[in-house]
Amino acid sequence: MAENSNLEIVSASSDHVEWIISMARKEGWNPGDNDAIAFQQADPSGYFVGLINGKPVCCVAGVKFNHIAIIGYYVVVKEHRGQGHGIRIFQHAMNYLNGYNIRVDGLLIHAPKYQNSGFKMAHVNVRYTGAVDNSTISCPFVCAASSVPFDKILQYDARFYADERKHFLAGWINTGTTDCLAYMDKDTVKGFGAIRKSVNGYRVGPLYAETTQIAEILLKSLCQHKSDCRITLDFPETNNHGKALAEKLKLVEVFKFGTLYTGEAPNVDLLKIYSFTCH
Ligand SMILES: CC(C)(COP(=O)(O)OP(=O)(O)OC[C@H]1O[C@@H](n2cnc3c(N)ncnc32)[C@H](O)[C@@H]1OP(=O)(O)O)[C@@H](O)C(=O)NCCC(=O)NCCS
Repeated sequence: MAENSNLEIVSASSDHVEWIISMARKEGWNPGDNDAIAFQQADPSGYFVGLINGKPVCCVAGVKFNHIAIIGYYVVVKEHRGQGHGIRIFQHAMNYLNGYNIRVDGLLIHAPKYQNSGFKMAHVNVRYTGAVDNSTISCPFVCAASSVPFDKILQYDARFYADERKHFLAGWINTGTTDCLAYMDKDTVKGFGAIRKSVNGYRVGPLYAETTQIAEILLKSLCQHKSDCRITLDFPETNNHGKALAEKLKLVEVFKFGTLYTGEAPNVDLLKIYSFTCH
């Protein structure tokens, strides 16, 4: 019997989520230490594993926000690749997300696969990484995001995600990240940023700001006092302000990846996105 027919797809247990994260680590995706926990809080039923004789061999996450959903953690154990497990578990997640505008952030080499599954390329992004200064910075406009009325952060995030990520954001601010900061001009949010410990250094995301100066202040505030402060930023390649900031900080470009959607690409201001919250 073909191995594929023995595949049993189940929603992930908490132990499986640990396994999913270990798969992302093995792929070198440098996930944040608590990423899966925060994403799972956003949609506890959206993590899937494929089992053969009770042993996990593949995984995928399909996380529903309000009307946008995201697919990630799409991996098959090396020895089990090329046997149809990947496409089966991917379609399982797609069925789960039926009716949503589904987003995937994927390596450019995989874009044709996603296009075959009905996704359309919205924009290409670039990852930058490098060690940054972690010295103290003081700015009276910067405060803990946890001290800002939650709906203000929710609305600001929605401007750049084109959806409300209520449960996800609450988890991100409280458990997913090491520091989560807002730049406030009186009662108005002018920037929002978060940093979390990852396999290699720190991942920054999201980082949204009205100006490059605000982005830089937030970034430096997030990095202060972090030992071995190697950071990773992911932003749209059309954001020249992000590129200028990354170059000013002497970060280096690592690779490019695409953001694709099954529906219309949301109309958001990509030039104010200095880092995404991608897997
Ligand atoms: C990508 C990956 C999950 C595919 O899993 P797999 O089990 O090897 O793939 P399958 O055997 O199910 O593929 C069967 C067919 O479906 C296609 N396919 C796989 N996933 C697909 C998807 N999401 N959409 C459309 N087609 C897909 C394959 O290209 C293949 O087509 P072919 O027969 O014409 O070559 C696997 O190679 C992997 O784990 N790679 C490393 C992690 C990774 O890069 N993940 C994607 C991140 S963007």
